[in-house]
Amino acid sequence: MRILAIESSCDDTAAAVLDGDTVRSSVVASQDDVHNRFGGVVPELASRSHIRNILPVIEAALEQAGMTLDAVEAIAATCGPGLVGSLLVGLSAAKAIAFARRLPFVGVNHLEGHLLSPRLAEPVPFPYVALLVSGGHTSVYHAEDLGRYRLLGATRDDAAGEAFDKVAKIMGLGYPGGRVIDDLARAGNPTAIRFPRARLKPPRGPAEPRFDFSFSGLKTAVWQHVREHPIAGNGAAADLAASFQETVVDMLLDTTLAAARSVGCARLVIAGGVSANSRLRARAQDAAAAGGLALHIPPLRYCTDNAAMIALAGSYRLARGECDPLSANAVADLEL
Ligand code: KG4
Ligand code: ZN
Repeated sequence: MRILAIESSCDDTAAAVLDGDTVRSSVVASQDDVHNRFGGVVPELASRSHIRNILPVIEAALEQAGMTLDAVEAIAATCGPGLVGSLLVGLSAAKAIAFARRLPFVGVNHLEGHLLSPRLAEPVPFPYVALLVSGGHTSVYHAEDLGRYRLLGATRDDAAGEAFDKVAKIMGLGYPGGRVIDDLARAGNPTAIRFPRARLKPPRGPAEPRFDFSFSGLKTAVWQHVREHPIAGNGAAADLAASFQETVVDMLLDTTLAAARSVGCARLVIAGGVSANSRLRARAQDAAAAGGLALHIPPLRYCTDNAAMIALAGSYRLARGECDPLSANAVADLEL
């Protein structure tokens, strides 16, 4: 089946064409230039940029796939979670096309898109433990089967990507900060500064152990460090970036590996924007090799937000004979 998918949950406008299990095109229009000087996403500006970008992005996705709308057999779009004003732009465009062309429509959960994204590049059999780590989310799931995702833990405050973005802001590096810190850290010493690693105790009571994260203390520790030791020169900036990044990677891997052990699962997926981080990728590879785990991390273009993963998640629902009415709405806090 040929599916046209649209993703606009945050600050990237994306469209993709999936043909069977082949990605024919995946186009992403970034709004980094719009939000850069604010050090974070400004929701109103994001919605307006989506409106400007949505039709050219859809047209580019069709053109790169070498087809017109006539060849498209179904439409998928992200319906949550995300910024409601952003979601509505992509969702409305998708529903309008489905209505005009009398095509089946499926709404897709953005988080399911990320959880399935490694399958765009290679087969990933269930079950697996998935670390979903992005600008809006840091959670560990036990993905038992398609559509069966059990939450094992999540951040209690900031997402890891948010910590990257805030530390980049403190260091005056612009938005989004993940890529810049990743690049800067290559020249730095990851053991130059010892930041505290938050280890959360599971809540007391009969509940199963939770594998939660916390990044707000680390952000404050970096802020305090910069206040007491103003960054003098490139070497100091690189050491700070590398030390901060190492701390985040330690916390992410320690908790995810503990979660995998607790459910006895030997297959690991890492997905979401922060899974593009070179240090996280390398350290995860080492940890997987040492622990005898299979590891799947999507190629870089499918780590950050994209519509190919939405098309894939949508294709599974369509294959099960599911679709959604055109009254389907955007839900900012849609749960998995
Ligand atoms: O998945 P994504 O595109 O959007 C959300 O759903 O949030 O993730 C964006 C986040 C941003 O916080 C960005 O700084 C982070 O992913 N990111 C990175 C890297 N590339 C993107 N963080 C660390 N290292 C990277 N190389
Ligand atoms: Zn995302």
